[in-house]
Formats: sequence, structure tokens, C-alpha cells
Amino acid sequence: MSKPQHYHFVLLLSTVVVALAAIANAAAATSITPRFKEAPSFYNSPDCPLIIDESHGFSILFSDQAVHVAMTLDAAYIRGTVAAILSILQHSSCPQNIAFHFVASADASLLRATISSSFPHLNFLVYPFCDSSVSRLISTSIRSALDCPLNYARSYLANLLPSCVHRVVYLDSDLVLIDDIAKLAATPLGDNSVLAAPEYCNANFTSYFTSTFWSNTYFSLTFANRKACYFNTGVMVIDLDRWREGDYTTKIEEWMEVQKRMRIYELGSLPPFLLVFAGNIVPVDHRWNQHGLGGDNFIGLCRDLHHGPVSLLHWSGKGKPWARLDANGPCPLDALWEPYDLLQPKTPFALDS
Ligand SMILES: *[C@@H]1O[C@H](CO)[C@@H](O)[C@H](O)[C@H]1NC(C)=O
Repeated sequence: MSKPQHYHFVLLLSTVVVALAAIANAAAATSITPRFKEAPSFYNSPDCPLIIDESHGFSILFSDQAVHVAMTLDAAYIRGTVAAILSILQHSSCPQNIAFHFVASADASLLRATISSSFPHLNFLVYPFCDSSVSRLISTSIRSALDCPLNYARSYLANLLPSCVHRVVYLDSDLVLIDDIAKLAATPLGDNSVLAAPEYCNANFTSYFTSTFWSNTYFSLTFANRKACYFNTGVMVIDLDRWREGDYTTKIEEWMEVQKRMRIYELGSLPPFLLVFAGNIVPVDHRWNQHGLGGDNFIGLCRDLHHGPVSLLHWSGKGKPWARLDANGPCPLDALWEPYDLLQPKTPFALDS
């Protein structure tokens, strides 16, 4: 075989490989990340602080004056995340002073591109999260969606985010804000609280742990000197410095190790947070987490709002508004989520290239 022929064969082969890779990429892009519209631009009102960071130029991503928001980013919830971001920007008086910190365990570059194309001016960083770092600690819960390693990323924010970020608002992806996030972020944490969140002292706290837990004196003594109340971990204001000082990630992991051995609770990432923090958090007004709109953990019944004012709507529970809308079976309150949906409407007559 002469050299040129061989060369042509290799060239042809590599062309085929490149073409196949392109097809695979396109397929992945369409199946993993749906297309979203570009959001309108949002600008600071005139009285917003102008943030200039000496070391990073005009950067708010590491600034003390910025409102720092942490969320996870994955293919399954991307539509919810995009809606949440839009809702935050739209109701903020200083939207350009918000820094987003996204934690992603896979497809990070694709997800980053999706966020950039919908929000071209967004201040954000994407942090890789290694699933295997936490998966060895996860035991199966009553709802398989809760067992996803990324669901535990909220326990690792203090390690993931740079140490110059001192306070963060953690938000789930199945919620929308209808009020200024700066108000939530400014919650006073007092002299030593690590975390602030709406708490619910009427909820039956006992039911979040198994009888194995309560019948073990050593375990139940954990709550001995605190008035432990349930709180939802989908909306939390976290002092990252205090978290790092107290090494709360390790404390959470220790309870997860106990769970691995003796099943002391039924849900996923929530109970370890309750074990470590319940009774020691700063309570936030309930308006900041109108949760449960997804229904229960089993069939996802429609739920109504709780009494009182609303600043944040949270579709926690099994049913998600985008899924119910797609299935033509929305709950009445899903109409409040829909205006933030940036998914490109399906165009059945257009040929997708
Ligand atoms: C709280 O939950 C526990 C365990 O699920 C149950 O045994 C108890 O009766 C409940 N208490 C109330 C007041 O509902």
C-alpha cells in the first residue's frame, strides 16, 4: 500500500470520527439541555452600591457587597434553575450586584453555556462537584430523586466556594422569588448562628426520624438542650466563615455515616441538617419559603399556599410545575411559576437542524 493511500484512509477515518463526535454532541446537547430564550437585561437602580473590587477589577463575584446566591445545576432541573434566576433578577433592585455560584456534577460546560445564552450578563461561576465524594455516604430514601449526590452539594458550599465569600443564600431549583433577594440575604445572624431559615415548630419533629433513632438514648440526646423545630433546607442563609470554623460539613457527614449503618431517618439530605442545626437557627419569616407546592413525596397532590404574605414560592415535594404543565395537568398555583419559564416553545412544524 502506497503512502498517500494510507494517508487518505486515515484522513477519511478521522473525518468520520469527527462527524460522529459532532452528531453525538448535537444529540447530547438536544437531549440534555433544552433551548431557552434569552432573558431581558436587568439593571441596577441608581442608588445601588457600585462594586469595585481592587484585586479583580470590576468584579462582584468575590465582593462583600454583593448578594451571593448558590444553586445546583443539572440537566433534570435546568428549566427550574433558569426560571429561578429570572425571578431573582426581575424582583431585585440591584440585579447587577448579585453573584451566582452554581454547583454542577456533570455536563458543566454545556450547562454553563445554557446559562450564558439565557443570561448573557449574569455574574456567575460554575463549580465542579464530584459525585463520588458523597455517593459513598448516601443511603436510599423514600424518594429516589432525593438520593442524587448533587442534592447534597448544599452541605459542601463552604468548601466549594472561595474563602472570600463569607455569606451565601442557598436556593433549591424548584422555586421562584417574587421579592428582593437582598432582603433575605441581609437576615441578621446574631453573634454565633451559622444558618437562618424559616422554621416550623408546629410540624411533628418526631416524624422526621425513625424509632431506631428515638429509642437510642445517645442519639436522641442530640436534641436535649435545644428546642428543635423542622426547617426546609431549600432556602437557607449560611454564614460560610462560621460553617468553616465549626467544620459542619464533617458533622453532617458523621450523621450520614450513622444512617448508612442503622437507618435513623427516611428522607435524603434534610435530616442531617436537622440533626446538626435544628433549634440553633435564626428563624426567617415564613414568607421566604412557601414550600410544599409540589405536593407530598409520594403522588404529588396539588397544594394551596400557607396563610400569610409570600416572597418565595417553593414547589418542594414530588410534583414539579414544568412537568405538570408539560403533561397538561397543572395545579392551580403552577400558573405562578409559568411566567418565569424561559423554555423555547416547541415548534412542531419547524425542522430542527
Ligand atoms: C408525631 O409523629 C410520631 C411518629 O411518626 C407519632 O408517633 C406521633 O403520634 C406524632 N405526634 C403527633 C402529635 O401527631
